[in-house]
Amino acid sequence: RGVLCVVGARPNFMKIAPVMRALREAPEPVRVRLVHTGQHYDEAMKDAFFRQLGLPEPDVDLGVGSASHAVQTAQIMERFEPVLEREDPACVVVVGDVNSTLACALVAAKAGRAVAHVEAGLRSFDRTMPEEVNRVLTDQVADLLFCTEPRAVENLRGEGIEEGRIHLVGNVMIDTLLRHRELAVPPARTLARHGVDPAVIEGAEGYILLTLHRPANVDDPAVLRRLIKTVRGISDAVPVVFPVHPRTAARIEAAGLGDLMGARRIVRLPPLGYLETLGLMAEARLVMTDSGGMQEETTALGVPCITLRENTERPITVEQGTNRIVGSDPNRILAAVDHVLANGAQGRVPQLWDGRAAERIRDVLVSWLNGRAG
Ligand code: UD1
Repeated sequence: RGVLCVVGARPNFMKIAPVMRALREAPEPVRVRLVHTGQHYDEAMKDAFFRQLGLPEPDVDLGVGSASHAVQTAQIMERFEPVLEREDPACVVVVGDVNSTLACALVAAKAGRAVAHVEAGLRSFDRTMPEEVNRVLTDQVADLLFCTEPRAVENLRGEGIEEGRIHLVGNVMIDTLLRHRELAVPPARTLARHGVDPAVIEGAEGYILLTLHRPANVDDPAVLRRLIKTVRGISDAVPVVFPVHPRTAARIEAAGLGDLMGARRIVRLPPLGYLETLGLMAEARLVMTDSGGMQEETTALGVPCITLRENTERPITVEQGTNRIVGSDPNRILAAVDHVLANGAQGRVPQLWDGRAAERIRDVLVSWLNGRAG
């Protein structure tokens, strides 16, 4: 019996890739199968990542697609249940905090299967974030909880999870980053491929990389308008490269904000692949984002990050790394941008973010499974 890995959305792909590789390259290789729920399905949101990360084609695609939280979660659960029975794995591995993570963890736990959660214990303590609900519930039903930072371990202890289930192993997202660092696509090439003259970002002032997709930032047209106006002001000083997530693209169109984006120094791009994004991030003077993963990736790269959220579930990126939490208030954003442009950002790479997290996960998982089998 093997391990059944689950992915659903873009940030899952770079987390599962090193875990699958480590399991397959184990001294006694483990049988690994991959289920994609279909939560993200576009070429740009899925296929480019599978190719660039060397992920195998999913063995099973549940083909769920986009819908409301309840419908999406329910459909994943319905379609995953028979797959789980058929595959009969010794353990289901879920990663991150998206709807696919919770849906499959819940099905597996109710079917009496072992569940391992990679990236457990992160807490923003903000239950208005759908991801926070997914994290808390997934951790409650998981048998093995793999953490990226010490605070996550403390959070789990505080929620009454037994010590024996918790393992501080480091960050699989950084495993993927370190493995692909040399393969990153140079920013000028990415711009040229999308018909943009690279001269825009080749001035002495460099460029800022911006990403936005959190419902709290993009679903309310007033909030989104204010953010885009702020970015437009910033782009007078430093050009801004903005690969636009499909959710955000839809909101920009619906709110009639396309024109505001028309500034020459805001380079609007479609969603990019992993290697293009990595290249843009590594060379940026500053990253402005509401993504979770990019807070960690910028810390690993030593690039300053300004997080356009009121909180973070990844506090080590602020305490040790290059991250600042500023929310969506224009004055706070402008002050932080000024500060970072003048001073840069100092940071240390957290312990265990060394490219070997997946191997640690494999070792714990294999010995735990052997222990149960014995
Ligand atoms: C999801 C995750 C979020 C993660 C993000 C990364 C949840 C609750 N949210 O948010 O944690 O940070 O992925 O991208 O799981 N769409 C496409 N093509 C696709 C997928 C989606 O066009 O391949 C569009 C659809 O209009 C869809 C919208 O994006 O309605 C939102 O997709 P959804 O998967 O519901 O959530 P994300 O906002 O992507």
